[in-house]
Amino acid sequence: MATMQDNQTWSGRFNEPVAELVKRYTASVDFDKRLALFDIQGSLAHAQMLATCNIISAQDLKDIQRGLSQIENEIISGDFDWQLDLEDVHLNIEKRLTTLVGDAGKRLHTGRSRNDQVATDIRLYLRSEIDNIVGLLKELQTSLLDLAQHHTHTIMPGFTHLQVAQPVSFAHHLMAYFEMCQRDIGRFGDARKRVNRLPLGAAALAGTSYPIKREYVAELLDFDGVCENSLDAVSDRDFAIEFTASSALVMTHLSRLSEELILWMNPRFGFIDIADRFCTGSSIMPQKKNPDVPELVRGKTGRVNGNLVALLTLMKGQPLAYNKDNQEDKEPLFDTVDTLTLTLRIYADMMRGITVKPEAMRRAALQGYATATDLADYLVKKGLPFRDAHEAVALAVRHAEQKGCDLAELKLDELQQFSALIADDIYGVLTLEGSLAARNHTGGTAPNQVEAAIARARKLLAS
Ligand code: ARG
Repeated sequence: MATMQDNQTWSGRFNEPVAELVKRYTASVDFDKRLALFDIQGSLAHAQMLATCNIISAQDLKDIQRGLSQIENEIISGDFDWQLDLEDVHLNIEKRLTTLVGDAGKRLHTGRSRNDQVATDIRLYLRSEIDNIVGLLKELQTSLLDLAQHHTHTIMPGFTHLQVAQPVSFAHHLMAYFEMCQRDIGRFGDARKRVNRLPLGAAALAGTSYPIKREYVAELLDFDGVCENSLDAVSDRDFAIEFTASSALVMTHLSRLSEELILWMNPRFGFIDIADRFCTGSSIMPQKKNPDVPELVRGKTGRVNGNLVALLTLMKGQPLAYNKDNQEDKEPLFDTVDTLTLTLRIYADMMRGITVKPEAMRRAALQGYATATDLADYLVKKGLPFRDAHEAVALAVRHAEQKGCDLAELKLDELQQFSALIADDIYGVLTLEGSLAARNHTGGTAPNQVEAAIARARKLLAS
């Protein structure tokens, strides 16, 4: 009869070994070994609790600690011999522990199942990744602020429908992304609260018959508390889905910015240049400099969105409690973490390497009658109802368009054909600077408002 020695943890019940192909199909060690150090952290806390509750002896605890510490070193130095036959990270470590310290190693799994163990590992892993990602988001925010700082007076066209709408400052535009990052940070902070709960103690699904102290383990592992229901603790991965959704939103924000960088770098816009180290050339067209990084960010957003859909789909058909389906949560999660952290690291650097071309921005802002709304607002302030003002300005724009000039280039008597309310103070209103300065309220593009927004943002980052 097969025994534990045959690498079959559950062999006693089986008449034949698992088929080779099935072993490969069910094994997760190739990817879940990434959780190894968190697995050890969780095991150490579990063992300490078992000893405190007199479920294992003090000597067992010492042996387990010694063994796990050696295993940790082996893993870090790359000497650990991962075996596919041992299925996953948990069984690999447990087997090695037993080899190193004997029976104490076999006692570690008392009152625990891989079901609550893996849920704990993922939560520890995600908690640490969330903290890292929030740091990277703040770095990106800093580089946005550093760039914005110099451009509160740099005027570009603001777009709606990708048509010139109203002038805004480049700083104002960048600060929109600062806000998005700020909400992203908030979302990760919210998700972290739900990640930071301890599943251990749920055991396979129903809890355990040993006199365990879950709250003690939670404390040792710096969790805010325990998962309240054992079935829920081992089965739901909503926290991982939430993490991935938050990641997908970061990527979505960066994808939008990427699309803009790509457009702005096109010579038809010519608003910016991206440093060479973020671009590549063409193997055939010698003149090309391609914005590969923003393009890839846009592309990789699809990948993270895909991971989100994968996780949602993974969950939707599962009855309580744990099902092996959940093993499939890891690759999308790891891929999301890798994609997002790399993207954020590159992005912060790329924003620092952007060359801004204010003349081109200004030329573009002057081209599309961007101050037409200002003319309408001027008429309203002189008593004309807004709808009538709107119509008068539409006719003036049409006239200017036919002449091939800007509104500010029309003579006063020409402008007066469209409304007798127009006087020569109109020219201040029609300038780009006048248009910006007029939007002088919280959230508006007036330079003093954007400077104040940048100052508030700096404070926020420092806090
Ligand atoms: N490798 C498994 C996972 O990732 C660990 C839990 C397995 N539990 C089980 N009863 N087969 O979900």
